[in-house]
Amino acid sequence: MKTLVVGGGIAGLTAALRADALGHEVELIVKGALGDGCTPLAQGGIAGVYGHGDSPELHALDTMHAGGGHSDPAAVGALVDGADAALAALIAAGVAFDRTHDGEIALGLEAAHRLPRIAHAGGDATGAAISSALVARVRASGIDVREGVFAADVLLDGGRVTGIRSLDGTAHSADAVVLATGGAGRLFAHTTNPAEVTGDGIAMALRAGAAVADLEFVQFHPTVLTDGDAFLISEAVRGAGAALVDADGRRFMADEHPRAELAPRDVVARAVARVADAQGVPVRLDATALGSSALAQRFPTIDAELRRRGLDWSREPVPVTPAAHYLMGGIATDLDGRTSLPGLWAVGETARTGVHGANRLASNSLLEGAVFGARVAESLDSGVPSGLRSQSMPLCSADSGSFCDLGERSTVTRAELQRLMWEKVGLLRSHDGLSDAVAQLHRWHLPTGSTVADHEDANLLTVARAVASAALARTESLGSHHLSPAPHPAPALIGVP
Ligand code: SIN
Repeated sequence: MKTLVVGGGIAGLTAALRADALGHEVELIVKGALGDGCTPLAQGGIAGVYGHGDSPELHALDTMHAGGGHSDPAAVGALVDGADAALAALIAAGVAFDRTHDGEIALGLEAAHRLPRIAHAGGDATGAAISSALVARVRASGIDVREGVFAADVLLDGGRVTGIRSLDGTAHSADAVVLATGGAGRLFAHTTNPAEVTGDGIAMALRAGAAVADLEFVQFHPTVLTDGDAFLISEAVRGAGAALVDADGRRFMADEHPRAELAPRDVVARAVARVADAQGVPVRLDATALGSSALAQRFPTIDAELRRRGLDWSREPVPVTPAAHYLMGGIATDLDGRTSLPGLWAVGETARTGVHGANRLASNSLLEGAVFGARVAESLDSGVPSGLRSQSMPLCSADSGSFCDLGERSTVTRAELQRLMWEKVGLLRSHDGLSDAVAQLHRWHLPTGSTVADHEDANLLTVARAVASAALARTESLGSHHLSPAPHPAPALIGVP
């Protein structure tokens, strides 16, 4: 059986390696180099190691609570029940998780987890450790790796997905196609995601008619350095005791939520934006109480990057702001990654498994990639359609309501698109702002050029229309989808160059 995996993050690498071990002929295509993408940037770690007093059931409860009650309990159950095997597989693949003096896996605490249950490697270099171990395994396997191949569209034959057409026109045929192309952070003007994260898999799936769900739920990480290029400061830093302070040095999160800095991520991000907006300067993350050597030892990547930028966080709080980080929605799948199209699977951030609900719990994304990557590989020879249906979204057409008054059509630059999404489909949304955004997104032409950048622009616009339309259709606030009564300026860009 020939399996084609598109994407080389933890989800794609896991699916490819497991399919190879099961005897499939596996081709893995990535648009850049193997090892690019979001996985190697993940700092905090991977959730799912249960110490004294903890259990998969408590992890499931925290996941559901952070997700605003919108998660699918069966998907959450599959996630937490699969954690043990997923962590064991990563260790077997060569990932050296940090250990205590007793040799146990050292556990970090992050927001909205009731107990420390986050495994980490190299202090704050967990994603890099996982990525390099899995990439080494792939290189040593019989998997046919093709780098620098841009997947343009899925190939369909009688409603069944039969492969991928790449930008140079090559047909990559397969019995099963797995999309593991990541999210769409580059929809927004300010994001933690690298440049290549342009929603390609979700756009391909939309064009092919696959069901999608929960696209309105976009997570903004609360603590991204405002100074220079977006650089994430892990939630694990707050888990270790750092505080968020306003312009007067006052800790404000204690007034916002009983768990203060360790409230669910959407709550912290909105508070950070609101305080910065009210005071006209970014809030700051104060890690000074942790001490210079502890910061350097536990968070070496962050420590080195801050020092490279001339910031000494052991002495001074550093300015932070929210930035787009993660897409909870995506291509709708069942518990084994099957989409609504026979022959097509989706996994990782590209997929909407139902695990994350309306707001992902910290460090559940690497876990999802590892658990569901394996589940996908094990289901590839039973390609029954999942029976999933798409969420309903008000897309503009001739008979749409007044918000879809298309008027003159025009071209758009990527920067204009990102600015619109940031301002109107961002952290704080309003019905009027979303209506404007949907109309504007439909006034812009889909780019038709033939370069990778043209295709990425077209994919971004396709996904932007779907995200904005899904947001407009959800008329109540839930998790990361937060509606305010009136259009709101985009406060979180304060301090961002
Ligand atoms: C972080 O380290 O704060 C990010 C972890 C995540 O996104 O789950």
